[in-house]
Amino acid sequence: MSAQQMLKVFVTRRIPQEGMKILQKAGMCNLSVWDSDEPVPRAELLKGVAGAHGLLCLLSDKIDVEVLDAAGPNLKVISTLSVGFDHLAIDEIKKRGIRVGYTPDVLTDATAELTVALLLATARRLPEGVEEVKNGGWSTWKPLWLCGYGLSGSTVGVIGLGRIGMAIARRLKPFGVKRLLYTGRQPKPQAQEVDGEYVPLDTLVSESDFVVVSCSLTPDTQGLCDKTFFSKMKKTSVFINTSRGAVVNQEDLFEALSSGQIAAAGLDVTTPEPLPTNHPLLTLKNCVVLPHIGSATYSTRGIMSELTANNLLAGLTGSKMPRPPFD
Ligand code: NDP
Ligand code: DGY
Repeated sequence: MSAQQMLKVFVTRRIPQEGMKILQKAGMCNLSVWDSDEPVPRAELLKGVAGAHGLLCLLSDKIDVEVLDAAGPNLKVISTLSVGFDHLAIDEIKKRGIRVGYTPDVLTDATAELTVALLLATARRLPEGVEEVKNGGWSTWKPLWLCGYGLSGSTVGVIGLGRIGMAIARRLKPFGVKRLLYTGRQPKPQAQEVDGEYVPLDTLVSESDFVVVSCSLTPDTQGLCDKTFFSKMKKTSVFINTSRGAVVNQEDLFEALSSGQIAAAGLDVTTPEPLPTNHPLLTLKNCVVLPHIGSATYSTRGIMSELTANNLLAGLTGSKMPRPPFD
């Protein structure tokens, strides 16, 4: 391909080399990379995308009308290094006939594992225990010290039994979970595998010992977990969110945790990200916050990077895309 025929691609971050190698080897891309581990500043994004045929972005890049306008009519494809695509202005993107690629399935196991780890860490108070060992708070074995809640015989409620929700349910069942409730837009035949009971949201919230949020962020799920939601949870229940921060009203969560309305919360996602270090939630012992590391295993990120590159190339060449969220 001659230099003039090369297609301009803007990559908004340093990504795992697996994906970069694919893009370089394709020999059709004039690659421009925001060569940093930190997010591209908005002004640089608007500049970098100008005239691009392809955009490879991350979940931290808000791809809205302004970015699409800045890109201009050349833009054929947006490929995001994530399964969540709530950062993309999908209606506008569809209207302009731009194709989209994302990374479902390849990160399901890693994210489900992390969710289970976070649930156990939160319910069994692992960060508090580690801290007590370090700060001398461990004086002796005490019958009621650092007691938490176990999964055996419990009821777990999964909000959004999609790919990741199902993988979480599969992993939790062998811990001796007695009832597995789930909610979503419709019952799922695959729920049979985990004896899942499709129930209304209110039933799930009030009957679960562990409420696990694994739905996508949509206008319907935005702010779903609010004061009313938490007021229906048992005082002994544990809330876990590995979906998106905006599903939760964090002021209401803080109130529920600090007043003893619920027992504990584990969050891998927050609003904003990063959560400011002086955020009230970080003052609470019964709140475990992780820095959005659900899919963070070396191999998963490498495979995500490959898939993102292959989605991008397919979008550029007009061929069948490996994983589009819609066609
Ligand atoms: P899926 O599309 O397979 O699952 C999404 C689920 O959300 C579906 O089961 C859907 O239910 C459910 N849902 C949608 N609307 C509602 C609603 N109003 N109430 C309840 N449930 C609803 O996606 P994945 O499982 O692959 O990923 C889910 C999300 O997890 C991603 O969108 C992303 O935000 C997040 N994620 C976070 C990661 C992290 O690092 N913490 C890593 C990877 C993903 P139905 O099928 O009935 O419509
Ligand atoms: C996603 O893919 O949506 C996650 O949040 C990060 O892997």
